Amino acid sequence: APIPPPDISTCHDVPKSGDAHDKVNCCPPEPTIIDYVPPPVTCLRVRRPAHMASCEYIAKYNKATELMKNLPLSDPRNFMQQANVHCTYCDGAYYQAGLTENIPLCVHNSWLFFPFHRWYLYFYEKILGNLIGDPTFALPFWNWDHPDGMQIPHMYTDNLSSLYDELRSTAHQPPATVNLSYGGGGEYRERQVEENLCVMHKNMVSGAKLPQLFFGSPYRLGNTGGTCAGTIEQHPHNSVHNWTGTERTPLGEDMGIFYAAGRDPIFFAHHANVDRMWSIWKTLDGRKRQDIKDRDFLDAGFLFYDENARLHKSAEVGKSSSPEVELTTKLPIHLKGRKAV
Ligand code: C2O
Repeated sequence: APIPPPDISTCHDVPKSGDAHDKVNCCPPEPTIIDYVPPPVTCLRVRRPAHMASCEYIAKYNKATELMKNLPLSDPRNFMQQANVHCTYCDGAYYQAGLTENIPLCVHNSWLFFPFHRWYLYFYEKILGNLIGDPTFALPFWNWDHPDGMQIPHMYTDNLSSLYDELRSTAHQPPATVNLSYGGGGEYRERQVEENLCVMHKNMVSGAKLPQLFFGSPYRLGNTGGTCAGTIEQHPHNSVHNWTGTERTPLGEDMGIFYAAGRDPIFFAHHANVDRMWSIWKTLDGRKRQDIKDRDFLDAGFLFYDENARLHKSAEVGKSSSPEVELTTKLPIHLKGRKAV
């Protein structure tokens, strides 16, 4: 059976990492839940590369994030509440609904990875847009697959901006080149751009020819967790998280650990690019590269708060495969002709 939206009343404190004593509470407020009906598409939100953003856009995004941070902490649209969404679904703060045993729900390392994060961004983006009264507002994407986007985008590094986060790696500030296969070692590698392009080729093209490889392992009701991440979830997704988080704390906050990753505004630009990979992947070989058709994938669901602080259920995976965003940057040419790694 598919994993249904969680029963919010099962939400409980979770360990920040493997150490069971250091716990965090990331549970949301508990209101009435309503079924989600996607609104009619009236205008498209166009996501653009973060490194090419205009000053005007940066000011707007900065303002929206500031307003989100200034909402009362009890408001589910508050920035910290939004960050906690990641913690609840990724650290097992909910139990899977409809079972007699308590089995935690964790969306990582499985086929729920792409759709969960797509819905998460969808609502986060709408909340930001609503706060500044701009229904066309779109998140930027961190274009780490393109040589020009392979460093922390400058809009995130201004320490007076609401997009700044102190808990990032000191060593990886611009102009450091992102390491898309970063394992935590941190040694400088020459030809990093070339290496990164190989990582992209392997995880988008040569090594991801089938949906199972790209999306990751099945995750059904009663499973104790996903067993295997898809190609992009591993690299560059995990690598960019670990590369961005600080080396000054043992858990690598914020980006380097599930419970805290959403506390860094750059999380959402990182995931906007992960989401873009999903769209691009489907264009690479028309026949085989399609969304998973298994009902347990399509009928899985989540709970999210919308821009009016209403909690929606059955934001189903199957409804997420055609997001109402248009992606302006197509596949970079250099991904195409490369040989398998
Ligand atoms: Cu839920 Cu980038 O992780």
